[in-house]
Amino acid sequence: MRVYNFSPGPSMLPLPVLERASSEMVDANGTGQSVMEMSHRSKDFKPIIEKTEKLLRSLMQIPDTYKVLFLQGGASLQFSMVPINLAGTEPLEPKKQAAVIDTGIWAQKAAAEAAKYINVNVRASSKDKSYTYIPEAPAPDPADAYYHITLNNTIVGTKWASIPDTGIVPLVADISSCILSEPLDVSKFGILYAGAQKNLGPAGTTVVIIREDLIGNAPSWTPALLRYDIHAEEHSLYNTPPCYGIYTIGLVLEWLKNLGGVEAIAKINYEKADLFYDYLERSTLFHSPVEKKFRSIMNIPFINGDAELEKRFITEAAAAGLVNLAGHRLVGGLRASIYNAMPVDGVQALIHFAEKFEKKAGV
Ligand SMILES: Cc1ncc(COP(=O)(O)O)c(C=O)c1O
Repeated sequence: MRVYNFSPGPSMLPLPVLERASSEMVDANGTGQSVMEMSHRSKDFKPIIEKTEKLLRSLMQIPDTYKVLFLQGGASLQFSMVPINLAGTEPLEPKKQAAVIDTGIWAQKAAAEAAKYINVNVRASSKDKSYTYIPEAPAPDPADAYYHITLNNTIVGTKWASIPDTGIVPLVADISSCILSEPLDVSKFGILYAGAQKNLGPAGTTVVIIREDLIGNAPSWTPALLRYDIHAEEHSLYNTPPCYGIYTIGLVLEWLKNLGGVEAIAKINYEKADLFYDYLERSTLFHSPVEKKFRSIMNIPFINGDAELEKRFITEAAAAGLVNLAGHRLVGGLRASIYNAMPVDGVQALIHFAEKFEKKAGV
């Protein structure tokens, strides 16, 4: 029996994608081999990576002035690649600066990594209220090499309600936990990056969407594998890319296209999120700690405050086939991650379970 997996990542993949991958496991496209066994430079793999890029470009309406890169190292490596490539300097030159908005743990990690190479200015933070809202975005300083935001905050369950206008300063966004969840105007950004393991496919591939004019400024000491220009010139084939991951992302994108694309999935995602937030409004046991305007449609933390009761909820839910509902280890509580592949039925099953649990608890 397949479970409903509410994990923040790696998370559920659409069943038709898994079935298709399974049917092609030992013989992909009549090649007599699996994608895992193919040379990344072969005529068999080339159409796979090209198809994946083409689908992503059309689903996200990525302008031609942007490159799409399939890299490794997770979103976490982008915490280093972004500052090095956009603001890294030669050893005797003064450091450049960039702006970061602190909306939680991943934003902090991006800032801490960048601070190894550049001067990081944390221009706003929602730490004062345990990251339960998104702070007002201050105007950009033209001296900033870039302006970094975390568009959806996986751990605390917030998302930016609107995209800040950063003028000539390139806006860089970590979209790991919201890529393809709803329409996004790519042209407002300099760089978008996302680890694959939530809305795109298996862990191991990182998608980077970068405006061409931001490529080619890495300092001379930059390791080859961390240079956007090398990856762009080599079409993500400078070294062996995560071939099977790229293939699976292609299947996920095909699934999404057949469903009606990003607009269609956004409708479903809002329906799922509304169902669960409405339940939380009704609930006498749990509530959402997040300010309404900034609530994520992908990650929904909910809390009671009694750690014993929350633990019991997690254990009993798992026994009912609703797994991975624990909150992040640093914040506790509960969290339902409902990415694109989570069906409406899964959210309804969770609500049904929670209501029964509530009744049993006698509240
Ligand atoms: C918003 C966000 N950024 C970055 C990361 C780190 O991603 P990775 O494990 O791919 O490095 C995560 C992981 O959950 C995340 O949710």
